[in-house]
Amino acid sequence: MRQNSNSLAPFIPTPYNIVRKMLEFAQLKKSEVLFDLGSGDGRIVLMAAKDFGAKSIGVEHRLSLVEEAREKAIELDITNSTLFLHDNIFNVNLKTANVVTLYLTIKSNERIRHKLEKELHNGARVVTHNFPMIKWIQSDVMKIIEDHQIHTLYLYNFTSRE
Ligand SMILES: C[S@@+](CC[C@H](N)C(=O)[O-])C[C@H]1O[C@@H](n2cnc3c(N)ncnc32)[C@H](O)[C@@H]1O
Repeated sequence: MRQNSNSLAPFIPTPYNIVRKMLEFAQLKKSEVLFDLGSGDGRIVLMAAKDFGAKSIGVEHRLSLVEEAREKAIELDITNSTLFLHDNIFNVNLKTANVVTLYLTIKSNERIRHKLEKELHNGARVVTHNFPMIKWIQSDVMKIIEDHQIHTLYLYNFTSRE
């Protein structure tokens, strides 16, 4: 890794049903490129590739989680359409992204916002789980109840502010 790890959130996985809702909410299409920033055990990246036909990339700074995700990609036979980078989110260029997913914190989203604004192209979509991008106006919000917990998804259609 080129930069010291700088934790933006602990590992708390998004429940699988909510992962599916996030990908549907983003209208992820076959062959589009998805990045999950802080990919944990890889569940968003794996479902994006397996069930939506996307080329998906996870970025995660905990090596054990990266290894777990890579093993699952082998089991599911989707190593050609998935990539798990053991790196800090801030080291990875997002210019090829059609969809970015985030489950971090409000403060971390605010730090990442500047990077997204520099690197994303117009038309890219960003879906965040539970924590909004406070300086952006969302295109849509979805609330889902799962196991007595409310999950809120925020969808942003990125357009350059310049
Ligand atoms: C709340 S979990 C979300 C995991 C996955 N995206 C999901 O929704 O199931 C956040 C993840 O971000 C990772 N993370 C935190 N800071 C990071 C950083 N600076 N670079 C890469 N990964 C980071 C954590 O290790 C953790 O796995």
